[in-house]
Amino acid sequence: MPANKFAASNDWWKHAVVYEVYPRSYGDSNNDGTGDLNGITQHLDHLAKLGVDAIWITPCFPSPQVDFGYDVSDYRNIDPQYGTLADFDGLVAEAKKRNIKVILDFVVNHTSDKHRWFLESEQSKTNPYRDYYIWRDGKGPGQPPNNWTSTFGGPSWTYSDTTSQWYYHFFYPQQPDLNWRNPKVEQEMFDVTRFWYRRGVYGFRLDAVDTLFEDPNLTDNPPVPGTDAYGMPMQEHIHDHSPAEVHAELRNLRKVANEFPGRVLIGETWTDTPEQLAEYYGPNNDELQMPMYFNFTKVKTLDANEFRQKVAAIEANPVHGWPVYVLSNHDIRRYVDRYGNGENKDQIAKLMSALYLTLRGSAIMYYGEEIGMENNDPKRVEDVKDVIGKKGWPKEIGRDGERTPMQWNTSVNAGFNKGATPWLPVDANYPTHNIATESQDPNSVLNWYRELIRLRRSNPAFYGGSYFSLTDTDPNIMAYLRKSPTAATVVILNFSAQPQTIALDSSKIGTSTGTVLLSTDRQLKRINLRKLRLAPYGVVIASVHGKATHTAAGVTH
Ligand code: NOJ
Repeated sequence: MPANKFAASNDWWKHAVVYEVYPRSYGDSNNDGTGDLNGITQHLDHLAKLGVDAIWITPCFPSPQVDFGYDVSDYRNIDPQYGTLADFDGLVAEAKKRNIKVILDFVVNHTSDKHRWFLESEQSKTNPYRDYYIWRDGKGPGQPPNNWTSTFGGPSWTYSDTTSQWYYHFFYPQQPDLNWRNPKVEQEMFDVTRFWYRRGVYGFRLDAVDTLFEDPNLTDNPPVPGTDAYGMPMQEHIHDHSPAEVHAELRNLRKVANEFPGRVLIGETWTDTPEQLAEYYGPNNDELQMPMYFNFTKVKTLDANEFRQKVAAIEANPVHGWPVYVLSNHDIRRYVDRYGNGENKDQIAKLMSALYLTLRGSAIMYYGEEIGMENNDPKRVEDVKDVIGKKGWPKEIGRDGERTPMQWNTSVNAGFNKGATPWLPVDANYPTHNIATESQDPNSVLNWYRELIRLRRSNPAFYGGSYFSLTDTDPNIMAYLRKSPTAATVVILNFSAQPQTIALDSSKIGTSTGTVLLSTDRQLKRINLRKLRLAPYGVVIASVHGKATHTAAGVTH
């Protein structure tokens, strides 16, 4: 794999491919059924060969694991089931040898109810840690302070007999919200990031950033008709969010990151509009470098128009922000299961990866994507491990399906471990969809991802080129030009299950022919842009020369 020419710069994250690892499910080195840090270290060669620039490890800190690590009981250590701090240091060192940076998940909104701070806080109203969390009197006997509901079901307040007050939690009762208005909390959390930066961590993915602050007056949320998956009345979640304070705090977290060169903040930024997303970069580019653009994950069908519009919205955004594309993660169904009625999953994997890995911006991929792993959803509530699935079944089946063990080879448990029952069942497609088997097949999803990432890294058009759409309203085809001062490529994607023939406007490209760099049609070497036939879900990426007449609106960085 060619080196990423940005690797040593402070802007390394631009053009980077960041690979999300769910540590419970990646590699189980001690064969206890749950993945661990050494299990990640053992597989770094795979990641280097794939060509990723960084790995983001979801929370591996000590935790009661109610929300599988998103309930942290100590921010400065490693959960024993995942290993030790020494194992972590070993992972960082081995990753560094392979030019892979390590990014951690920072659960900023809440801790575990077993965190020392909370255990202290609940003792008395005068405990020095009381104000680390949000404690309030109820409206009356048995009545919480207001009507806010938790996104994980039930009210977002839990009563504590010890002090006869309620504490606030946007997520589970075992995840009490921190009070970021308390300067001591701020300082503690800033120091946590310094602790890890000094250990060689290159940044954080900030969990649930938009819920850091709530209306201090605790105004009731307006009710809306209906009930949620857990049977609670629906409401508009407007007063349990306070965006202005969130942005101010992100600027503070960024200042701390800036104390260490090249450190990057990624945000779990669920937003509805590109304008809202743009705000997360900060007025002076002083908040998050990488707020995730989640809108691809909201597209329900393989409609080229929808994806084109989503890209156009980002490209048209006047704000300086660098785009960050995401298709799947540990909270949402794998993208091969979201599209295509359960059929043609491998073709869809090639199509969608070709889209998001050739756009202008960084890409965050989810483990297993590179082999076409699919969801393996629980069939019975008794098998569900994720609490939201247990509580919300069958309306909400939880997130186990997208978190199953990584598939390495055809041996027992797909090579995840040496035979202990994995915490979640390995998917049935592992005999064909695993790293070892797919490595042997030039047409596998794995080799496709490898070639695509290699191309993305080595071709200047993908590095820094502008983006110019070549199709306007075609529901089946997305085609675009990526162009830098020294290179130009076209990317043509057939989103439909039927063959398509298209004619591109060669005046916009400056030539009517192209040399194929990568295609799902392995025989294709040269293309005629005025008449090009694409197979179902077909992809063509071609180098084009000549002088384009359009004035690309895309920004070159
Ligand atoms: C978002 C995380 O991605 C999800 O897995 C978790 O349950 C919630 N935040 C709460 O931390």
